[in-house]
Amino acid sequence: MSLASFLLVFLFCRFFPALADPRATELAVMCSNTTAPVLQRQAFLTNFYDAMEALTDLITSQRYALVVKGTTQNETVYAFGECMKDLSKPDCDVCFAQCKTRVHRCSPFPRGTNGGMFFFDGCYLRYDGYNFFNESLSPRDRTICGTEDFRGNWSVFKANTVELVRNLSIEAPKNEGFSVGYVRRSNVTIYGLAQCWKFVNSSSCQNCLAEAITRIGSCSPKGEVKALNAGCYLRYATHNFYNSSNNNPPQEHRGHNNYAIIVAASSASLAFLLIVATVIFLVWTNLLKRSRERRQVGVLLNTVIKSKLNMPYEILEKATDYFSDSNKVGEGGSGSVFKGVLPDGTTVAVKRLTFNTSQWADHFFNEVNLISGIRHKNLVKLLGCSITGPESLLVYEFVPNHSLYYHLSGRRNSQQLTWEVRHKIIFGTAEGLAYLHEESQRIIHRDIKLGNILVDENFTPKIADFGLARLFPEDKSHLSTAICGTLGYMAPEYVVLGKLTEKADVYSFGVLIMEIISGKKSKSFVQNSYSILHRVWSLYGSNKLCDIVDTMLEGNYPAEEACKLLKIGLLCAQASAELRPAMSVVVKMINNNHEITQPTQPPFLNGSSAESSKSILPGESFQPRSYTQSSEDSMTESLIHHKWVTI
Ligand SMILES: *[C@@H]1O[C@H](CO)[C@@H](O)[C@H](O)[C@H]1NC(C)=O
Ligand SMILES: *[C@@H]1O[C@H](CO)[C@@H](O)[C@H](O)[C@H]1NC(C)=O
Ligand SMILES: *[C@@H]1O[C@H](CO)[C@@H](O)[C@H](O)[C@H]1NC(C)=O
Ligand SMILES: *[C@@H]1O[C@H](CO)[C@@H](O)[C@H](O)[C@H]1NC(C)=O
Ligand SMILES: *[C@@H]1O[C@H](CO)[C@@H](O)[C@H](O)[C@H]1NC(C)=O
Ligand SMILES: *[C@@H]1O[C@H](CO)[C@@H](O)[C@H](O)[C@H]1NC(C)=O
Ligand SMILES: *[C@@H]1O[C@H](CO)[C@@H](O)[C@H](O)[C@H]1NC(C)=O
Ligand SMILES: *[C@@H]1O[C@H](CO)[C@@H](O)[C@H](O)[C@H]1NC(C)=O
Repeated sequence: MSLASFLLVFLFCRFFPALADPRATELAVMCSNTTAPVLQRQAFLTNFYDAMEALTDLITSQRYALVVKGTTQNETVYAFGECMKDLSKPDCDVCFAQCKTRVHRCSPFPRGTNGGMFFFDGCYLRYDGYNFFNESLSPRDRTICGTEDFRGNWSVFKANTVELVRNLSIEAPKNEGFSVGYVRRSNVTIYGLAQCWKFVNSSSCQNCLAEAITRIGSCSPKGEVKALNAGCYLRYATHNFYNSSNNNPPQEHRGHNNYAIIVAASSASLAFLLIVATVIFLVWTNLLKRSRERRQVGVLLNTVIKSKLNMPYEILEKATDYFSDSNKVGEGGSGSVFKGVLPDGTTVAVKRLTFNTSQWADHFFNEVNLISGIRHKNLVKLLGCSITGPESLLVYEFVPNHSLYYHLSGRRNSQQLTWEVRHKIIFGTAEGLAYLHEESQRIIHRDIKLGNILVDENFTPKIADFGLARLFPEDKSHLSTAICGTLGYMAPEYVVLGKLTEKADVYSFGVLIMEIISGKKSKSFVQNSYSILHRVWSLYGSNKLCDIVDTMLEGNYPAEEACKLLKIGLLCAQASAELRPAMSVVVKMINNNHEITQPTQPPFLNGSSAESSKSILPGESFQPRSYTQSSEDSMTESLIHHKWVTI
């Protein structure tokens, strides 16, 4: 008898497998209707960026984050993010990456909005200009009803739902703010999940869920409801949507089980039948699984295995000494990088991707195929990949001499960065980008920054990670937007409207020029609430551009050439994308084969025009404000009065 019930439980588990779904669908974005006072907007924005960065790091390591940046009133940013507790870590990363792509919808720039709540099916993010960590309810709380009416016995549905949500709201406060379960009775099953955010204590958790329950009745007769509160989340549906394997110990929210009664009353022959049925079922599901896997790795599997680009996982694992820490050479947004030596003696860099790509294998391989065809002296070569192993790996040529970030940090070996070396790096990077934009497949890098410019023994620059954004499908998920793009380098139209063209790379390149010449990272300026762009622009205004040149050079540089490069940097970082030159033109300018025009527009918009652009909505075209003040003196004066909003 116990065998029969064991088999029954087993069958149940097979029938309700966990879902392989990162739940990265947007539910609601609710922007605050207050704005930061104009004078403090600049500082608020800086703190906002810092907070978002800190949030990302913490979520990757502990799945939730509570961050406060800044100390002064009206400038401090409070931020919070958390994943649903049943999500696996990769799913959490995917959901949060998606969530971050929405942040620009309530961004402090240019509208000055100083708060927003971002609800996803699997995660939550909120930031605000005040301490909301004791708030479990807010006037912006919302209920989202499903689209389909429940069809079936309505009174049973109602009774089951009431029992489920009541039990969830009792369980969750006792169970670290999280509970999942289902009620199955009279042929109607309802699945539910309740979670209170990490900062909510158990009594507030109870209140919050109770309030959610009073609202969900408004959704009848829909079969699915999601209640979104400042302090908690509650969802029920007629289908299973949570990952039950994470629920420990599994909660048996089960009502009377008719099947169990039948089985209990049955004879040994039924047990025998069940055994036979199970064997058949197992064989059948195994066959199904295999054929599904074959389909998943793609129609391409044969092509992949035969391709020279495919490197067996085992070989890469050995090459990097099983991804040992001593071989780790870097950690990026999209994954860790390890140094490895292939059996034939070639040294390579192996990138372990954070994101699970098994669903996208076809697409992934096609893109690797395409990117690996791109060869240029200033681009890091992609040698191959591994997609048939347990995780996806990318194999690159190994560039021995670190990134520019390394060379400009802590002033290591900075005497090596002579003027000639810096010029060579700027020129080479420009050539590499021009090739990417105009001669290859029109690839936009999206994440040009010091850390992505590697240098070899001779200080020849090589751009890393290009095309990475293409590896992730764009249609549904805008993951690429989340992976790529480092605040401080991102063009305004990209941050604000998510509008992406090659000119976004040109902007980042402009920032890069200034960093290389000044020897300072753009971040080091942020502390004084001035960006490197402000500094260079204001020096340009007072005809003292060369003041920014790195003092480590001790004056050993041609002043005219340095000013020329800085001016090109300003041209590249103009607020309007149309005004920025194409990379091929930049190459010509550096080569003295093209006239260098005067930068006409500061790389930031002023506070009052930011006010008046309140009506810009995502999707609408971005009309850059033209620069109205003509005299350079008044320009500098406004800067001193902090009237600028920068990116
Ligand atoms: C469910 O959670 C477990 C534990 O984190 C994880 O190993 C598994 O991959 C998850 N399953 C799905 C489908 O997300
Ligand atoms: C902001 O929204 C709240 C709630 O929706 C409302 O009560 C308040 O009047 C609004 N404030 C402004 C300035 O619009
Ligand atoms: C913060 O902003 C409010 C409203 O704009 C203002 O009344 C207050 O003086 C500001 N506080 C500080 C310290 O600037
Ligand atoms: C829980 O938090 C709320 C709001 O922050 C607070 O009013 C209440 O005293 C707290 N309760 C306990 C038991 O700490
Ligand atoms: C939360 O704390 C702030 C001060 O930290 C206080 O002004 C506010 O009333 C508190 N809100 C609640 C709901 O306890
Ligand atoms: C719904 O189910 C209840 C309990 O099982 C039963 O008493 C009732 O007659 C059913 N109603 C309909 C319309 O089937
Ligand atoms: C249970 O529901 C299914 C479909 O919802 C229906 O086909 C079946 O007849 C129902 N069984 C009973 C015993 O009500
Ligand atoms: C819900 O809670 C009640 C009372 O604690 C209990 O009798 C019932 O079995 C629970 N239901 C489920 C589905 O766990």
